[in-house]
Amino acid sequence: MKGVILAGGTGSRLYPCTKVTNKHLLPVYNKPMIYYPLQLLAKAGIKDILIISGEGHAGDFLNLLGSGKEFGVDLAYDVQEGSGGIAHALKLARNFVRDDKVVVVLGDNIFEDDVKPFVEEFEKQQEGAKIFLKEVSMQDARRFGCALTEGDKVVYVEEKPRDPKSNLAMTGLYMFDNNIFNIIDVLKPSARGELEITDAIDYYVKSGKCFYGIIKGFWSDAGTFESLFHSSQFLKEKEGIKDQPYFA
Ligand code: G1P
Repeated sequence: MKGVILAGGTGSRLYPCTKVTNKHLLPVYNKPMIYYPLQLLAKAGIKDILIISGEGHAGDFLNLLGSGKEFGVDLAYDVQEGSGGIAHALKLARNFVRDDKVVVVLGDNIFEDDVKPFVEEFEKQQEGAKIFLKEVSMQDARRFGCALTEGDKVVYVEEKPRDPKSNLAMTGLYMFDNNIFNIIDVLKPSARGELEITDAIDYYVKSGKCFYGIIKGFWSDAGTFESLFHSSQFLKEKEGIKDQPYFA
């Protein structure tokens, strides 16, 4: 199984902090944001990982993470030109993934859970996709992709619904069989002009091949000032480093 971390985009919601750097290089508590998805995959036993960043900062990722040896993984890099969306970026991973399955994680997503058991389950899944859902408030559900489930399957997905059908948000962790690349090939851009990952997932949903896992521990994206702060606060508390003097 191959791993892909998507770290493109302009980070417009974190402007001006993203004026001269990439969102995924900003600190979340005491580490650069990209460390969290990277460590998530490494801990889950995914060794071959492709990092797709945007134009302008690819060299910074290479300087920061190098070959991946420090994390016990093998890193490859690619660059997404323009802002064509998540599915458009994932398309670049086709030659890297080849005939394998792929675990995709968005570079600004912070998970507390160990996802190794999910990876092992998906290795046994013959075909299709597996997405990961987290219960959020109805208010927050509008900010994310949203899913409806029946039994062990996902039966409906919608990107940033005005009137969410459930409070199950789609996190930025996805597992796909090799068909994902054929699906992306036939996707049409959404109203915001992007190839949406949720539209690709909808193909699996409609063919009855989209399964799901529930994220029990902390999950947040760190793509807005509020969620970035919230994530830093959670990680600080989790690490138990309390009330250190500011200037120590
Ligand atoms: C993306 C996905 C959305 C998902 C979210 C998780 O949204 O399109 O379905 O719920 O990531 O972080 P974005 O953050 O790009 O708006």
